[in-house]
Amino acid sequence: MSYSANLRLDVGQETELPVFIGSEGERALDIDKLRAGTGLVTLDESFGNTASCRSAITYLHGEKGILRYRGYPIEELAEKSRFVEVAYLLMYGDLPTSGQLEDFSSILNSSSLIHEDMRHFFLAFPNNAHPMSLLTTMVASLSAFYPVPENPSDEDEAQIIANLVSQVRTIAAFSYKKFIGEPVVYPSYKLRFVENFLNMMFSSPVSNYQQDQDIVKAIEAFLIVHADHEQNCSTSAVRIAGSSLANVYAVISAGISALWGRRHGGANQEVIAMLKTIQHSGDDGRLFLEAAKSKKTRLMGFGHRIYKTFDPRALIMKKLCHRILGKPGMSDPMFDIAMRLEEAALSDDYFLSRNLYPNVDFYSGLILKAAGIPFDMFTVLFAIGRTPGWLAHWREMRHDAGNRIARPRQIYIGPGLRSYIPVGTREKHSVGVMRRTSTKISRIPEKYLDHPDPGDEAPESV
Ligand code: SDX
Repeated sequence: MSYSANLRLDVGQETELPVFIGSEGERALDIDKLRAGTGLVTLDESFGNTASCRSAITYLHGEKGILRYRGYPIEELAEKSRFVEVAYLLMYGDLPTSGQLEDFSSILNSSSLIHEDMRHFFLAFPNNAHPMSLLTTMVASLSAFYPVPENPSDEDEAQIIANLVSQVRTIAAFSYKKFIGEPVVYPSYKLRFVENFLNMMFSSPVSNYQQDQDIVKAIEAFLIVHADHEQNCSTSAVRIAGSSLANVYAVISAGISALWGRRHGGANQEVIAMLKTIQHSGDDGRLFLEAAKSKKTRLMGFGHRIYKTFDPRALIMKKLCHRILGKPGMSDPMFDIAMRLEEAALSDDYFLSRNLYPNVDFYSGLILKAAGIPFDMFTVLFAIGRTPGWLAHWREMRHDAGNRIARPRQIYIGPGLRSYIPVGTREKHSVGVMRRTSTKISRIPEKYLDHPDPGDEAPESV
């Protein structure tokens, strides 16, 4: 049964717009012919009401707090699956058979080394460069070592996917070793994906890293819940960059860059900074909530563009916090602060009336902290988790015969037509004049020069 909507414009001008209905009943006005038929475009700044594509990868329901990858509920996958299985599911549409899983694990393993020449790039970075700056740069540089054919075959595509899923993890671990001045630890064919990462991060020539299976399971679940989230900011960046047929390594680097922002993937770091600020201030959280309500700051890890109830991933992370931080010697006072903040916020009309609930970032940082992951690596781990999701969308887009280059329109609000004025006769402008800056812009942002303790600065409002 087909639906349509009737759009009445100026007197006597009407147009019929088809309504597209998705497999879960979502309805969309198909405006593909709107401009041709009416001369109008739609205006939807930050795309809150705009579906940019049709996708079969992930389904979200913001009001019901539903998240499914290829139809499988996130709760089941986080509890029962492995990250490599979920990466395969997102990419190819079904959970792998044991043979497919073995093959996928094998190509991930054989692709886990980066070209030895790339080791020199690390030397060029300042020691306290943020690891996300290394990750965006190094991932784009993979394009120089892995030429991508104009039309990659299925085998080429499988190799690209393995390179990125596996090497984003290797580059992340190598970045950490650079940061602490230790020699890198290479990936090992004897270890599974997560254990390999933890070993590359924490073992060294003089110490053997003892894997804690509860920590491995927690990181596995962390990566699974971060693996995809439909058209979020960074995935949209990947789709837009990919739509120009740019090099896939540069396209994933674009996704990493978008993820870095504190409104998006950077929020997990900001949550820990916020909890540390509250912990050091002796405030029981109420003062902080008052500051958030008066817009002096934001309750980081709360609120979401889509979820208007609990983010199902936040519930999974909170349950994992109880499991991990409940172990002897693992307790963390920040978890108690976080739970108090959640309880106070969810009984406060400011947050309830704006549908502000904990999102994936509110508890996830506490898991990483318990695993010994350093603060500046939190968003990097988000990127390791999200890489299969970005690649699944890149793959879905390149196999869509109707895909075209992304090119949104705009509504112009600048000055009307005017003629050139010779420089000697120009009046000084009242606004927008370029002021000469006297301060020398330091090469490395101040906040990284002496690498302050994350709790030394309250999170700025976003
Ligand atoms: C991720 O899109 C995805 O799917 C992202 C993600 C994924 O997996 O890819 O889920 C990952 O990015 C999760 C979100 C992480 N970010 C944070 O936790 C940062 C803190 N949250 C906010 O900055 C904010 O909630 C956003 C950015 C997440 C959502 O912003 P919206 O939907 O654009 O909301 P808004 O900025 O328009 O705010 C609406 C109102 C405003 O108040 P009023 O003007 O109505 O008075 O809510 C207030 C805001 O001031 N508000 C908050 C708040 N978030 C919104 N007030 C206090 N604390 C907050 N966190």
